[in-house]
Amino acid sequence: MHLRNAKIVKKDDMPCFMCIFAADMKYIVNCPMKDRHTFGIDVMADLLVEFSSEYELRKVLDSLNRPALVMGAGSNLLFLGDYHGTVLHSKIDGIVLESEDDSSVTVKVGSGVIWDDFVAYCVERGWWGVENLTAIPGEVGASAVQNIGAYGAEAADTIVRVRTLSLADGTVRTFESFECNYGYRSSVFKHELKGQYVVTYVYFKLYKAENPNIEYGSLKQLIKELGTPSLTNIRQAVRMVRESKLPDPKELGNAGSFFMNPVIPLKLYERIQSEYPDIPSYPAGDGLCKVPAGWLIERCGWKGRSLGAAAVHDRQALVLVNRGGATGQEIKNLADAVINDVRSKFGVSLIAEVNYIS
Ligand code: EPU
Repeated sequence: MHLRNAKIVKKDDMPCFMCIFAADMKYIVNCPMKDRHTFGIDVMADLLVEFSSEYELRKVLDSLNRPALVMGAGSNLLFLGDYHGTVLHSKIDGIVLESEDDSSVTVKVGSGVIWDDFVAYCVERGWWGVENLTAIPGEVGASAVQNIGAYGAEAADTIVRVRTLSLADGTVRTFESFECNYGYRSSVFKHELKGQYVVTYVYFKLYKAENPNIEYGSLKQLIKELGTPSLTNIRQAVRMVRESKLPDPKELGNAGSFFMNPVIPLKLYERIQSEYPDIPSYPAGDGLCKVPAGWLIERCGWKGRSLGAAAVHDRQALVLVNRGGATGQEIKNLADAVINDVRSKFGVSLIAEVNYIS
């Protein structure tokens, strides 16, 4: 660990065992993670390092000799126990206008920028593209890894480039959008190259001309009530829809959708539909369709049910919640029970969208 010029903070200010600043970097030994991820599981990490630039990250990587977990706001992960390694958290800030023409802008955004602050910034400037992704918890770096999505839009629609540092040797590698292999809630960073690169900046292209994307049912209705489909009205409507269905992690620990919506063969869909004519579906390519995991889970009777301190949310069955004091293992046990029931009843295998950390 490079700690030259390190300053040890006053004992009273220490949130945990030991907290050390080196330049702008912050090292926290035996770091409590409860308030650093949205599930609110009470676990510790051996070491947490916050870096504010690529230079600082490279310095950290030089001295890294144990497993590392790259983490944003922790809105899509579940700790199964204490983390015996180094957690790396980007505090790289800034939104910089890279280029502009009559119809669009391209901005370079630090991976530590809060996602919703970035959305607010775009909406204030009249730039279209990310407004449907209002109020998604998390940071910009993670948006490029998870390919976050909601209400008919996903991050990949606007991402043009992702700048990263290799965890192995600290070299810069920039991925053009097509190299990120974006798909539904997936990317090359989540699969083929998992754990190999740290995102430092994401470049987004946004548009100046009005381009409302409001086909999602309740959004359309709400926008009608608010008046015109302006950027501010879309932002407000999305916020209202989310608040009506999704629990606020500050009040009830959760990580949004716990499962991905499964893509199943049309034949299986038709079999289920013959018994449950109201099953919703969305097209998903040749011979396939996507069905809402929330619908399947609710039909298995899990909506609102608990297993210990873990529960299935009572307004959106896709979301698992920590009712207070749950362990990661308790949440996983609930997830496994849900997966088993959905498999036995419908023959569909649910896959967690949340990343398990052990
Ligand atoms: N449904 C039920 N019961 C439930 C939940 C949903 O029957 O408990 C049915 C609804 O009636 C509706 C359908 O399932 O017909 C779809 O529900 P919803 O519109 O709430 O969306 P979703 O498919 O359940 C996905 C995303 C959400 C995103 C919404 C809106 C995934 C895994 N989840 O949920 O993303 O907000 O669409 O676009 O794709 C997140 O990723 O954290 C997240 C919340």
